[in-house]
Amino acid sequence: MPTYRITILPGDGTGPEVMKEAEKLLDCIENNSNLQFDRTHIPCGGQYWLETGEEWPAGSFEHCRDNSDAILLGAIGWPGANLPNGDLAGGQVILGLRSGLNLYANVRPIKLYDGVKHKIHDEFTQVWDPKNVDLLVLRENTEGLYHSLLRRSALRAQGIEPKEAEDMVFDGIEGEVAWDNRPISKNGSEKLIRLGFEYAIRRNGSPIDGSSSVTCVDKSNVTRGCQLFRRVFHEIGEEFPDIGKEEAYIDAFTMWLVRNPEWFDVVVTSNMFGDIVTDLGSVLQGGMGMAASANIGDNHGLFEPVHGSSPKHAGKGKVNPIATLNSVQMMIEWLGIRNDDDEATQVSKLIEQAISEHLKEGSIMTYDLGGSASTSEVGTNVVKHLSALFE
Ligand code: IPM
Ligand code: MN
Repeated sequence: MPTYRITILPGDGTGPEVMKEAEKLLDCIENNSNLQFDRTHIPCGGQYWLETGEEWPAGSFEHCRDNSDAILLGAIGWPGANLPNGDLAGGQVILGLRSGLNLYANVRPIKLYDGVKHKIHDEFTQVWDPKNVDLLVLRENTEGLYHSLLRRSALRAQGIEPKEAEDMVFDGIEGEVAWDNRPISKNGSEKLIRLGFEYAIRRNGSPIDGSSSVTCVDKSNVTRGCQLFRRVFHEIGEEFPDIGKEEAYIDAFTMWLVRNPEWFDVVVTSNMFGDIVTDLGSVLQGGMGMAASANIGDNHGLFEPVHGSSPKHAGKGKVNPIATLNSVQMMIEWLGIRNDDDEATQVSKLIEQAISEHLKEGSIMTYDLGGSASTSEVGTNVVKHLSALFE
C-alpha cells in the first residue's frame, strides 16, 4: 500500500482554514483507495514569527527536504510581520523552500470551470465560454528579481545568516538607492522551458484550435536576462518540432491574455512576470480563490493556492477553498507521475471531476463566486462528490 509522507504547512491567516478542507479531501482518499498519507503538521509564517520569534521550528527545512514526499502550503504573510532587515517574516517557508529545494518551476493553471463566471465586466462576459480559458503558466521560481531574497530565505532556513549585498554606485543617480539584482541563467531557463514543452505534449492544445504551443513571455527588447531566456527558448524548442513556438513581450501579453485567452496553451516566463501575470490571469478563472499552483523541481514538490493569507477575511470561514483543493489535485497527479502510481493518477482525475461537478452544480459557492456558503460547506460538498465517484 503506498503511503506518502505529506508535510502540511498551514501558515498565516486563511491558510489554516483552507488547509482543513484539503485534509478532508485527503481523508476521503484514504477511506476510499489504497493511497495513504503520513501527515506532519508544521506551524509557520509571519504570525508564528510574531508569537515565537521564529518563522518555523528548527529542523523544519530539513524535514521538508529529507522526510517528505510532497509539501502542502496554505499561505504566508501577515501585516507587520517583517524581519529587522525588512524581509518577509515567513519567507524561509515559501521562498526558502522554493530556492533551497530548487523548485525551479511554479506551475499555475488558468482554467475557467463550467458554472463559474470570470470577473471581466458584464458587457463583455457573454462572448466568453469557459472552454476559452484553459492555459498553463510556468513561472521561473528560483531566479530573476526574487533571486536575492530567495537566497537569503534559503540560507536562513538552513541556519546560515545571509550577508547583505555590498553597496553599488549607479551612474547618474544620487542619494539613497535600493536595488535588486535580476540574474537569469541558461541552466535555470533550460529546465523551466523544457518542462513547459513537456506539459504542452500532455495537454489538449489552445482552446482556439487545439494546436499545442508554448509562448515565451519576456521583455527581450529591453533586458539582457530576457534575451538569454528567449534564446534558450528557441534552442530547447528545437527538441520539440511538433509543438508551436510563440513569443510575446510581457506588456502586450497582458493585453492579449485578457482579450484573447483562447490563443494560449502553455506560457513560460520569468519569476516576477509570472507572479504578476498569474494574479491577472486569476480574474479569467473566477478570482484568486480558484488559482492553484505546484512548485516543482527534480526532487521535490510543494503545492499551494496562489492567493495569500487574506488577513481581512481570516477567521471568518468564508474564503474559497477550491484553489487549495485543486492544489491537492496537482499534488496527487504529480505523485502519480513521479512514482509510477496509476492509482494516484486515477485519483487525481477523480478529484478534478469532483471539483468540476461541484462547480457545475453551482449551489454551494463562496461569496467570491456569488454564493454565501462557508469554506467548510464547499469542502464538504466536493468530498461528497468525490466519495460518490469512488463508488
Ligand atoms: C506568490 C506570492 C509570493 C510571491 C509572495 C507571498 C512572496 O505572491 O506565491 O505568488 O511573490 O511569489
Ligand atoms: Mn503572487
